[in-house]
Amino acid sequence: MKRKKVTVVGSGNVGATAAQRIVDQDLADVVLIDIIEGVPQGKALDLLQSGPVEGYDFSLIGTNDYKDTADSDAVIITAGLPRKPGMSRDDLLLKNYEIVKSVTEQIAKHSPNAILIVVSNPLDAMVQTAFKVSGFPKNRVIGMAGVLDSARFRTFIAMELKVSVENIHAFVLGGHGDTMVPLPRYSTVCGIPITELLPKEKIDALVKRTASGGAEIVGLLKTGSAYYAPSAASVEMLEAIFKDKKKILPCAAYLEGEYGIHGLYVGVPVKLGKNGVEEIIQIKLTTEEDAALKKSAAAVKELVEIIKV
Ligand code: LAC
Repeated sequence: MKRKKVTVVGSGNVGATAAQRIVDQDLADVVLIDIIEGVPQGKALDLLQSGPVEGYDFSLIGTNDYKDTADSDAVIITAGLPRKPGMSRDDLLLKNYEIVKSVTEQIAKHSPNAILIVVSNPLDAMVQTAFKVSGFPKNRVIGMAGVLDSARFRTFIAMELKVSVENIHAFVLGGHGDTMVPLPRYSTVCGIPITELLPKEKIDALVKRTASGGAEIVGLLKTGSAYYAPSAASVEMLEAIFKDKKKILPCAAYLEGEYGIHGLYVGVPVKLGKNGVEEIIQIKLTTEEDAALKKSAAAVKELVEIIKV
């Protein structure tokens, strides 16, 4: 069987940790690429040398040359600047737009059939950039955010109720920003909505902590943003695609009328399988939830209008 090939663009913390998780799970061979010379090569070599200890055989190279990424089955784009304390994801817009644009041009040239998973911030505007610049069909360009945001929500719910995180499903919709929309009604513990288990004030506090979950970590780290959970979330999406699991996950997907939103990437539940986004799942929202989703989409639209993608 031909092994899968994944390119991870950006050898910073998110990219290198994603590469580690991919080889740990034996999902694919990995090419780690960055414009900085030496860092992808060094990290790849270090990871490769964990192979004999961990007992796995894989090919993992670090490079600065897009020729080495040719014919990747999937590409995880993490390139770009991270936030500093006090910055919002939106403050990264113009710089990261240039970076994601040039990365996508290279990727589209060398791996025209790849599925792109975008992680760079501000997420929704960056995945829209990758979609427009690559010219790839919408099912092959997906943004990672909802899995991360709902993992944060699940973590906080589990901490509050002192139950296993495995019992908890949570849904977070909308853009990956301050306007994201955690949905308590659809967030459950073993099928029981948390609205039946926790008082409203408690839920509101967990929702608020989820929405500012990334900033909380930036504030603690001071020199960068989160990477363990973001890399885990991207690799869960990759696994669902490579194993054709038909897994329903909240991801940033290109909407053409779904949820009343047109021509915009926003976080919604999708079915992930070997073709990437195989279906956009439309759930019924209350008037209040729908208004929150529209508000979040409007915030994404403001950004994409600035960069005109
Ligand atoms: C976060 C960044 C990665 O939410 O967007 O931590």
